[in-house]
Amino acid sequence: MRHFLNTADWSRAELEAMLDDARAMKKAPLGDALKDKSVALLFLNNSLRTRTSFDIGARQLGGHAVTLSPSGGMWPLEFEDGVVMDGEAEEHVKEAATVLSRYCDMIGVRAFPKFVDWKEDRKDKVLNAFAKYSDVPVINMETITHPCQEMAHILALKEQFELEGRGALDGKKYVLTWTYHPKPLNTAVANSALMAAAKFGMDVTLLCPTPDYVLDERYMMQAEKDCRANGRKLTVTHNIEDAYKDAEIVYCKSWGALPYFGNWAPEKPIRDAHKHFIVDQKKLAMTNDALVSHCLPMRRNVKMTDAVFDGPNCIAYSEAENRLHVQKAIMKALVK
Ligand code: CP
Repeated sequence: MRHFLNTADWSRAELEAMLDDARAMKKAPLGDALKDKSVALLFLNNSLRTRTSFDIGARQLGGHAVTLSPSGGMWPLEFEDGVVMDGEAEEHVKEAATVLSRYCDMIGVRAFPKFVDWKEDRKDKVLNAFAKYSDVPVINMETITHPCQEMAHILALKEQFELEGRGALDGKKYVLTWTYHPKPLNTAVANSALMAAAKFGMDVTLLCPTPDYVLDERYMMQAEKDCRANGRKLTVTHNIEDAYKDAEIVYCKSWGALPYFGNWAPEKPIRDAHKHFIVDQKKLAMTNDALVSHCLPMRRNVKMTDAVFDGPNCIAYSEAENRLHVQKAIMKALVK
């Protein structure tokens, strides 16, 4: 039995096979690969796309999805082993995962960081606890990485470059740019985007305001390793012109600077000073007709201007649609 916790655990060939299957199901959406199978979708945080696409995807393949969330009446869970449960939690994840495993064929988990202590959040305790105690495959629906988003992103890039006759992803200049947001956000999508771009053979540039916004070393090292294995390079820059020059892909996301985790007040003036990192037409003009995307939800005219988002280079809607197709392929691969 395998879980889908992080794309780093899967080879490029395995991921490519899932993407091929997703493309096939995009053309022929209905099937019976999940006939009489069920998936429990545990959401400890909000969602529009993930919740809808997993539920509909399971049903399109003859399966059934059950959504669980604290606001929907689920018992508060404890994720630490060996604790005296005299706080808010009524149930330990060991019981929750074991019981759900007896009802369901897969468990999806969304559990964002608590944004207090990155050393704790980087342990990805909720996801790992489910993986540890579940007897059925567990899917990461976004914790400190977002592998389903990353798969949808890669598929959207492949499709659009093919449509435009611009060839494969290998060797393309990929820019992951930090953008402003009034709040410090999760690094999950940025971590995943970095790893995906490296795994799929691109030259990767991370553009961020200062060294404090460089991502966790676990993901930087994974991306570095994959870039090296593919004969590519990973570049970090704080210079907008250098990053955008000749870029063929610009992926934008905001995230909080890890050194300020849990002590966000001193980070605010730094992020406020970098509102000009917004993806706009002036920056797009520096690129090699780059495809632009964002995982959504996105604050318009804060992270990306309307002109870019609604323009011909933006593939964010295709990426969002592809969540449905890639997640069906992931579920199929896991229940085999
Ligand atoms: N991109 C993404 O995961 O969207 P939701 O948060 O709406 O699920």
